[in-house]
Amino acid sequence: RIMVLDFGSEYTQLIARKVRSAGVYCEIHPFDVDGASIKAFNPCGVILSDDPTTEPLTTNVQPPACLFDLQVPVLSIGYDVSQLAQKIKIQAAYDKTTPALVEQFVLQDCGCEALWTPANIVADAIAKVRAQVGERKVLLGLSGGVDSSVVAALLHRAIGDQLTCVFVDHGLLRLHEGDQVMQMFAENMGVKVIRVDAEQRYLDLLKGVSDPEEKRKIIGRTFIELFDEEAAKLEGIDFLAQGTIYPDVIESVAMKHGKAHTIKSHHNVGGLPEDMKFELVEPLRELFKDEVRRLGVELGLPHDMVYRHPFPGPGLGVRILGEIKKEYADLLRQADHIFIEELRAAGWYEKTSQAFAVFIPVKSVGMVNDQRRYAWVVSLRAVETIDFMTARWAHLPYELLEKVSSRIIKEIEGVSRVVYDVSSKPPATIEWE
Ligand code: XMP
Repeated sequence: RIMVLDFGSEYTQLIARKVRSAGVYCEIHPFDVDGASIKAFNPCGVILSDDPTTEPLTTNVQPPACLFDLQVPVLSIGYDVSQLAQKIKIQAAYDKTTPALVEQFVLQDCGCEALWTPANIVADAIAKVRAQVGERKVLLGLSGGVDSSVVAALLHRAIGDQLTCVFVDHGLLRLHEGDQVMQMFAENMGVKVIRVDAEQRYLDLLKGVSDPEEKRKIIGRTFIELFDEEAAKLEGIDFLAQGTIYPDVIESVAMKHGKAHTIKSHHNVGGLPEDMKFELVEPLRELFKDEVRRLGVELGLPHDMVYRHPFPGPGLGVRILGEIKKEYADLLRQADHIFIEELRAAGWYEKTSQAFAVFIPVKSVGMVNDQRRYAWVVSLRAVETIDFMTARWAHLPYELLEKVSSRIIKEIEGVSRVVYDVSSKPPATIEWE
């Protein structure tokens, strides 16, 4: 295993992912981690990750003194090696870091074996869950998103019927999504899933509410209430499983020192309060998103589902501008479905990071059978991004946009006009509210 010491570079996670994709487990620790932790981790190599183009974090950015007593290879990426030279600790210095270099370092210089593979990760995670849970019962909030789906598949394999999932369907999901979640988990895999059909309750609570943050709050709060209600009906549950992943866990050194230019945005609406009386089971806690996806495929989840674009917790609730009505949600679901279907057919789904339709509560004129018809406007949004902190609008081919637009206007009676959003982030955000 490899230890990556973070000196504040924004590439630290990228480097860690490179190590992992070479098949070697690694963890990120802050540059001032104490010597005892390093010894306990027992790395077979250490990578120093800094970004020489930005200001140092503090005046003293030395790696821990004990590092060089470990007798393991150290790779410096961006860290000022002259600081190490004063201690003559350099074997070789490179002025360019390539993925091949990281791979060579961990596999050859450090002699690590490439054992960090999806099959081994699954086996390891199953053993850990079994050891933690024993014969006891686990509850999981299943949303249909990638993380909770992978947790469900993994726990089902590890502990079978000791797992119960609660799936709160807020009625703001995509077309057929709720049924698909039930089909995949309950019917195909035999997972115990309780579906809470809460569409009406959400519609009632959201009636007349048009402020985006207020909508988010209501959707998030109601999710917790419904989940709690279901949990209270179940007996003998000791554990709560969560799809926490590694980027949620590691505290970035740059953030801690206030150096990060990026801000963490929305809190996941699926998040549960911390005062729940359960012990946590978090089998994805050490994994990056791409590893979670590979694990999902390894566990037999469909490729398309595992590689889906992210979908916000409040769902269509933040894609229907202003007040939410069932009529709007139904219409938006259809428009979104057509857009995604055509994107996939044209091979553009994988080339975009997120794509969706937005319902704009404005009526615009159109001519149908020589009659003027005033109907709603739908905007299409597609972006390319690496980290969702900045994003570029996707330059979709005109032919594709044309096809989507004419299908939406033809197939959905309530829509008279389709527009394409050409705003990048910043200053625009990815979602419209
Ligand atoms: P923005 O709109 O802030 O979106 O550029 C960045 C990413 O966050 C997602 N997003 C949310 N996710 N709850 C979520 O779970 C939310 O309230 C929320 N708002 C935005 C958005 O879809 C994009 O991937």
